[in-house]
Amino acid sequence: MHRLTQEKLPRHLAIIMDGNGRWAEQRSLDRVAGHRQGAESVRIVVRACREIGIPYLTLFAFSSENWSRPQPEVEALMTLLKDYLVMELREMLDNNIRLLAIGDLSRLPKEVVVVLNETMKLTAAATGMTLTLALSYGGRDDIIQAIRRITANSRDGNLTPEDINEGLFSKYLWTANLPDPDLLIRTSGEFRISNFFLWQLAYTEIYVTPNLWPDFKKEDLIQALLRYRDRERRFGLTSEQIKIGDR
Ligand code: IPE
Ligand code: IPE
Ligand code: MG
Repeated sequence: MHRLTQEKLPRHLAIIMDGNGRWAEQRSLDRVAGHRQGAESVRIVVRACREIGIPYLTLFAFSSENWSRPQPEVEALMTLLKDYLVMELREMLDNNIRLLAIGDLSRLPKEVVVVLNETMKLTAAATGMTLTLALSYGGRDDIIQAIRRITANSRDGNLTPEDINEGLFSKYLWTANLPDPDLLIRTSGEFRISNFFLWQLAYTEIYVTPNLWPDFKKEDLIQALLRYRDRERRFGLTSEQIKIGDR
């Protein structure tokens, strides 16, 4: 399929889904219409990733900073999220997709949390793909909550400073059960992280497309995966070392 071979696929693909507002603005529509169309792209991309065989897909859907947007927009996003979960449950179950959510979920409206928990419970045994929604997520929040819990465990005598290393720290992040992303896609042409995964992106390949999220379709995904396939990931080594290792 499109010259994509399994061994050159990212194990974990993360996406900053950006540009819904601009998509709507270009059409003289309300920003919410952009978010609604963005939800369609989510459906298409989730299905495509499952078909292609990507084991972990994480979507940055709502940031810790997005709470400061106008209240009607925040409310509309929460409603769209709830509707998405209800409507996609069947699809997730049929396609063996497990749903996870990361972020400060305590800030989400109660009715969203109820549906979220229910969906996570019902899909918990699925093994085909892990779909993680980053909701009310901030990379700095994630690091702070990890430090808080590490500090509490140290105070209780369960951890010493020597116990703290990269592996242990990763286990305290909200992403504890996910591998680091191999590929990050950001739509809408912005070259920034916007407080998404800060620790986790240390060696992630980054792909920015000018396309706005509501216009991002399967072909765009395949384009990004083909570009990823051709990258040389060196992890600080020399190109020569990598080529010898490949043999
Ligand atoms: C991404 O689109 C969706 C969220 C951040 C929730 P935006 O709403 O940020 O769209 P732009 O960037 O204003 O075009
Ligand atoms: C990042 O987009 C957050 C999500 C896609 C959920 P933003 O639109 O909030 O980012 P900035 O403000 O342009 O950096
Ligand atoms: Mg934006």
